[in-house]
Amino acid sequence: MIESFKGVITKQENYRSIFSTATSEERNENFKSYWNFSQDHSGRLIESEKDLEKKRAKLRFFQEKPVRSRKPLANPELFYANYVHLKDDPKIFDKKTLLLTCIYKFARHEWVGISGAWDAIPSLAESKNITEKISRVHLAEEFCHVRFFHEMFRTFHLDEVKWVPLGPLMQKVYQLFPYVPEMLMAPPAFVTELMGITFYQHVDALLDEVFYDEPEAKTRIRELLHEIMVDELAHIGQRRNFIGSWGIRVAKLMVSPLYRLFYKDIPESSLLFDIDSMVHDGLSFDYNNVSQELLERSWIPSYCKLSSVDN
Ligand SMILES: [Fe+2]
Ligand SMILES: [Fe+2]
Repeated sequence: MIESFKGVITKQENYRSIFSTATSEERNENFKSYWNFSQDHSGRLIESEKDLEKKRAKLRFFQEKPVRSRKPLANPELFYANYVHLKDDPKIFDKKTLLLTCIYKFARHEWVGISGAWDAIPSLAESKNITEKISRVHLAEEFCHVRFFHEMFRTFHLDEVKWVPLGPLMQKVYQLFPYVPEMLMAPPAFVTELMGITFYQHVDALLDEVFYDEPEAKTRIRELLHEIMVDELAHIGQRRNFIGSWGIRVAKLMVSPLYRLFYKDIPESSLLFDIDSMVHDGLSFDYNNVSQELLERSWIPSYCKLSSVDN
């Protein structure tokens, strides 16, 4: 299980479980609070480019001050042969290649999911209420994450990475998902966000070991990862806020099967991570082991804060 990750660690128990219940009044207030946060956090939506002003500026900052690893990967061809579909035995991979192909496969699912959803949900101008607006900006943030992932690969001289659609069945599943009624869609949508933050926490905890001989590149990868994590910390609270009291129980029951099913499709994951520990961390998630530096840049539902916390 992740004890902590980079930055100043929150020492006290300041937060409640992400599975804490909330009244519909609390949830309505939290949608307003989240919307205000996300407007300020990501800036203006550039609908035609699936981009956000402040996120774009951040990416430009990274691109204009590029960091590249001292050495390319030991065998870049191994990465290119296996990053989309695993063809070789991952047990022969060096740790850097293993982690980078695993990150790509995780991010690829996200990219396919958001690409299907973008065409299915209302644009910001067509949105009729605050939750539709939130969902639109949320998707644009996810597109920004794919750009940050792309920059991670470039940090390791992997300039030829392509974003490749999944097989026809999974492609269809992701395309149909946004049409499922909100009540049924909310628990699995929340669990996939929770799975994202759990994955990024576990990746963060591995960076020092895997990239020990690439200090500059490791720092850059962590900066890019933290850009994503700040959003994802906010997303889990936001998606949790869509769920009522019975739905949150359903979501909890979904954590273990969904995590395990998802990682089955990424064989690298079990060589890098303890999947049981990821499930445990998802079920026990409460923000208390997240660095203060990340929390201060993110958003937490009011009902997940103990009264002494006033951020
Ligand atoms: Fe994301
Ligand atoms: Fe997300």
